[in-house]
Amino acid sequence: VGRQATRLGPGRAALVAEVSEWVGSRREASWIVEHVESEAPGRDRSVETVAVAARELADRRACGEPLQYVLGHWSFREIELTVDRRVLIPRPETEQLVEVALGELRRTVGRSPDRSDRICVDLGTGSGAIALSFATEAVDITGALEVWATDRSADALAVARANLSTLVSSNAAGVNGARAHVCVATGEWFDALPENLAGSVDLIASNPPYVARDEFDALDATVREWEPLEALVAGPGSDGTPGLADIESIVRAAPEWLHETGSLVVELAPHQADPAVAVARLSGFTDATIARDLAGLERMLVARRT
Ligand SMILES: C[S@@+](CC[C@H](N)C(=O)[O-])C[C@H]1O[C@@H](n2cnc3c(N)ncnc32)[C@H](O)[C@@H]1O
Repeated sequence: VGRQATRLGPGRAALVAEVSEWVGSRREASWIVEHVESEAPGRDRSVETVAVAARELADRRACGEPLQYVLGHWSFREIELTVDRRVLIPRPETEQLVEVALGELRRTVGRSPDRSDRICVDLGTGSGAIALSFATEAVDITGALEVWATDRSADALAVARANLSTLVSSNAAGVNGARAHVCVATGEWFDALPENLAGSVDLIASNPPYVARDEFDALDATVREWEPLEALVAGPGSDGTPGLADIESIVRAAPEWLHETGSLVVELAPHQADPAVAVARLSGFTDATIARDLAGLERMLVARRT
């Protein structure tokens, strides 16, 4: 930024100040200007060119569009993801889900050291945040890693595929075809997977829709009016728990797909923790607990087959 600021000269500070007034945040204004500078070809990085593009983005932000969509990308753990209205904006809680899930993967590796290939599944991958994090971060796992990124939304999968090819072309550790192989597949939850994976998956992770319809109506307008409703909203569980339907579908079907040492990690809302544990026990998981997010809230079901 410092180098670019020098190129733009003193006009940059004035531009950041102008954009700050539009978007109501100096930090966001800096990100917008920095983003436009980085996108502009070197010879067009004059303050006038940058100002025109920055004002366009500031206008979108001022109209309520989430900053992440305005910028078109967002950081998730170690990777930078393209995001737009076709996908949910990846959240910090889900970064924590990846942390817990990687711990579960290492545990299953320790419990079944004879298996050479490891299989991870991310159900409802959206931008690919969870699946691509597995592929880039599980580099300490011995043997080959196969990661399945699934979604029923063809639009979302187009974004996930674009993020995968960016990672492959940047030759990120693990996604270079040698260590991890990422398969993108369309379909309703487990229907997207080939049948021969049944009983052999080491790790299933998912951040499914878990917001009840009336909770959705009370969400902030930046979420309600911009993010895909079908990525967020789920019906009630069979016991009436609001928003539990998709979590329940996944938990019930998961044991059939997991290897006997495998684990399931599913994001949820705190009020769904006890009902989700109950569904997991009824579905045959011998161990079902809840992990908390960094805010200390009950946020994930962690269910182990054995
Ligand atoms: C909460 S978003 C999570 C996206 C991404 N994994 C993340 O954490 O940022 C839920 C995702 O599940 C997908 N989805 C919703 N219902 C589904 C279903 N029945 N089968 C497969 N995918 C589904 C949505 O399209 C959406 O991409």
